[in-house]
Amino acid sequence: MSKLENKVASYAIVGFGSIGQALAKAFARKGIDVSVATTRDPESFASVAAAIGPDIIPTTLAEAVKADVIFLAVHFESHPDVAKAMPTWQGKTIVDVTNAYGVPPEKLGGQPSARVVAQAFTGGKLVKGFIHLVASVLEQDPAVQGGRRVVFLASDDDGAAAEIGALAENLGFAPIKLGGLSEGGLLVQAHGKNWGQLIFKDLVKFDG
Ligand SMILES: NC(=O)c1ccc[n+]([C@@H]2O[C@H](COP(=O)([O-])OP(=O)(O)OC[C@H]3O[C@@H](n4cnc5c(N)ncnc54)[C@H](OP(=O)(O)O)[C@@H]3O)[C@@H](O)[C@H]2O)c1
Repeated sequence: MSKLENKVASYAIVGFGSIGQALAKAFARKGIDVSVATTRDPESFASVAAAIGPDIIPTTLAEAVKADVIFLAVHFESHPDVAKAMPTWQGKTIVDVTNAYGVPPEKLGGQPSARVVAQAFTGGKLVKGFIHLVASVLEQDPAVQGGRRVVFLASDDDGAAAEIGALAENLGFAPIKLGGLSEGGLLVQAHGKNWGQLIFKDLVKFDG
């Protein structure tokens, strides 16, 4: 195996509100380091990060976006500001956890919001995922009822979907791939004032 294949991916969560903190709890549960960033000075949310666990590393947006895998846990309207943090997202995987609920479809050129986000993060590979659960459920241990809580993933890049699928497994979830952003992605995101069919479905996959 080459040095490159051996490299352990680095992770960041941009946005440390309800969903960002729920994701951070999943990383903390498994002792996986993850950087977290907001618009604010990292010191202002260091105590919140420390309360979740020592693996949660408060940092600036400029530092966080150096990670290999970046969870986008900001409001949909803020995604262009985050996208500006790098001239190119080549080599990076963005996990889009945003929901464009209430954004008129015509403002998105009729496209699923994940495609709009993918275009903003030029050169990056985008996976829509970890989005169908409310934060209060996502933050819980996914080992429930003798099975594992499901997370849905959609991407136009099979390699990126596999990478985030493996991460989801490592975090204790049961990943289910839904296909590309325009098909599967629409099942787990809002479109105008309609929710995707799989949103807020608290599914558990039984392993037995
Ligand atoms: N809450 C849920 O149950 C839920 C479920 C599924 C999906 N989602 C989606 O997840 C996303 C986040 O929702 P939320 O409920 O977690 O929102 P939230 O509690 O309001 O948190 C938003 C976070 O984004 C940060 N942020 C805003 N602009 C930023 C920028 N330009 N750079 C870096 N960080 C920035 C904010 O930091 P500052 O404090 O510095 O502004 C804050 O930490 C939304 O798109 C939402 O639709 C939410």
